[in-house]
Amino acid sequence: MTTAHRDFLAIPDFSSAELESLFVLADSMRTGTYTKKPLAGQTLAMIFMKASTRTRVSFEVGTYQLGGHALFLSPRDVQLGRGEPISDTAKVLSRYVNGIMIRTFAHADVEALAKDATIPVINGLTDLLHPCQVLADVLTVRQQLGGIAGRKVAWIGDGNNMANSWINAAYVLGFELSLACPEGYDPDAALIARARTRSKVSVVRDPAEAANGADVVTTDVWASMGQEEEQAVRERAFRGFCVDSALMARAAKNAIFLHCLPAHRGEEVTADVIDGPQSCVWDEAENRLHIQKAIMAVLMGGEKL
Ligand code: CP
Ligand code: NVA
Repeated sequence: MTTAHRDFLAIPDFSSAELESLFVLADSMRTGTYTKKPLAGQTLAMIFMKASTRTRVSFEVGTYQLGGHALFLSPRDVQLGRGEPISDTAKVLSRYVNGIMIRTFAHADVEALAKDATIPVINGLTDLLHPCQVLADVLTVRQQLGGIAGRKVAWIGDGNNMANSWINAAYVLGFELSLACPEGYDPDAALIARARTRSKVSVVRDPAEAANGADVVTTDVWASMGQEEEQAVRERAFRGFCVDSALMARAAKNAIFLHCLPAHRGEEVTADVIDGPQSCVWDEAENRLHIQKAIMAVLMGGEKL
């Protein structure tokens, strides 16, 4: 338990050189050349205020594989769910465990937790950002296409936490990003403005325009967790934003399709695309494990970048 620590709340918490090393470290974990146990004797607390399959399992398994132990904390079981302040939770958990992974609604809650914790905090998804997922996505692009520099990424659909994290990735890593979003569903304006200081980031209304010549086509659900009651309204707003084979045909010949999952076949993507030859969604899901192990090895395990 240390006060000299760093958090991972958003992709720009790492420099581009650090991200490069992080991807190499994650690849060494994927191939099995990395055999160290930097989390031996350590515990990760995992706070989930929203549901999860991939994040929960990959963090728990990843912690175990690095020699540590992970605790699953749901709002039904911990006092945070009954209104105990986030800052009190941060101070108490800091006395027991060595790192905290949190998935919640307001991004400000994660920032508040990080401010009052004396141990590393990792963002496992907020309404604003999903940084671990987009790093796994970039790792997948590197594995499939050899790198992301000079590539064009097309985001199709909601300007949500995934879209915002792609914008942050473009800011740090410098690739072209075209986001097609219906009016009223744009990504975060401040994140777009910052990314544009370094990278070509456009927001368009026509999915075909975004997909034209893209090396990566990616999308996400139309109603994120917490927006379930907007499903019907969103289904109308997002008509025409389904990634189908006609849209994929506009992309580069060897383009890949990514989706963070869970997916709704027949809504944001057709079954023939997500289950087809250009889809890399299973590698993408697997890469959550490798990139998060790399992040924990650095933040909690003393691994250098
Ligand atoms: N992609 C992702 O974060 O999945 P889960 O919601 O299952 O964790
Ligand atoms: N945008 C989705 C991502 C799920 C992993 C959500 O927030 O529900």
